Amino acid sequence: MTNKALRIGPVTIQPPTILAPLAGITDLPFRLMAKDAGCGLVCSEMISANGLVYGSKKTFKMLESTDRERPLSIQIFGADPGIMAEAARMVEGAGADILDINFGCSVKKVVKTDSGVALMRDPQRAEKIMIAVRKAIAIPLTIKIRSGWDPSGKQAFEIASMAEQCGVDALCLHPRTAGQGFGGKAYWPLIAALKQKLSIPLIGNGDITSPELAHDMFEQTGCEGIMIGRAALSDPDIFRRTSLFLENKIAEPLSLDDHFRMMGNYLKNSIDHHGESIACNMMRSRLGFLVKGLPGCSTFRKKLVLTTCEKDIRDCLSAFQLYLDSDHGKEQLARSDS
Ligand SMILES: Cc1cc2nc3c(=O)[nH]c(=O)nc-3n(C[C@H](O)[C@H](O)[C@H](O)COP(=O)(O)O)c2cc1C
Repeated sequence: MTNKALRIGPVTIQPPTILAPLAGITDLPFRLMAKDAGCGLVCSEMISANGLVYGSKKTFKMLESTDRERPLSIQIFGADPGIMAEAARMVEGAGADILDINFGCSVKKVVKTDSGVALMRDPQRAEKIMIAVRKAIAIPLTIKIRSGWDPSGKQAFEIASMAEQCGVDALCLHPRTAGQGFGGKAYWPLIAALKQKLSIPLIGNGDITSPELAHDMFEQTGCEGIMIGRAALSDPDIFRRTSLFLENKIAEPLSLDDHFRMMGNYLKNSIDHHGESIACNMMRSRLGFLVKGLPGCSTFRKKLVLTTCEKDIRDCLSAFQLYLDSDHGKEQLARSDS
């Protein structure tokens, strides 16, 4: 089994599991939830380099962190080498352990600004950015890429080779093309092929939805670390189970008490970070994800959208837990497990 520590420069990541950057999701409270579940490295959502450099308060707030979540990787996106370098300095100054550059975002709004995956078809600009950022900071530098603009992966190989030359410390590959978005299947053989060529650590990403698949990613590709995105949205506990599975240990499902404790802590941390009004607004969808698969979750979600304050949400959570603890709830739970 593969549970060897992942080393990115001087940063040791054990277990070698990473929470993917997820825009609009992986804020500090979400990262703390993944960390508490045993995730090895948490990543911020992508942060605009322009926003940081031009002093957007909202963007700057995205750099807030706490020692408890370390090691922390902060991801920035942008297209101008000078601005990216300046933003990277700010990220280092804010205490990040790793700086990651986004070369993979395929959202139109981002591609239109020549950032994200647009950089994979503009290798000269990509190289200038990597050189400028590398010079600007002393902390480890990583990049996150896609296959590129066609399935051959040619652009991924090109950018990866450049990254090595520029002193990038590790690279993450999500083997889908720019046009694929999140559709189709991630093509893991491309990760295995890149691993053959790369001398820096490689992180594999795409379609890991269980500890077994995390293990398969290591085995099939030879990557040194794995990154989980969408599955963690509804199941942050996947990091605990994966870590145990990689150690050949039995991973029991999370108990109901622990599941509700996790959601309660997430609510509290979100309120501490965003304030009650913004946090409660967010919780209406976020807690909705976290109850996925539980019997009665759609009724819970319907009640959740009507909540407006912390007390409402806590009452809603308590009522749901009481139902799941009732004879009928237990019966439904047993059925959904079988
Ligand atoms: C809602 C959402 C937001 C995302 N935001 C980012 C982002 O900010 N930066 C980034 O590099 N990738 C982003 N991604 C891509 C993920 O990091 C990851 O590469 C992708 O979801 C594939 O991994 P998965 O199959 O484990 O979800 C996002 C994906 C989703 C679904």
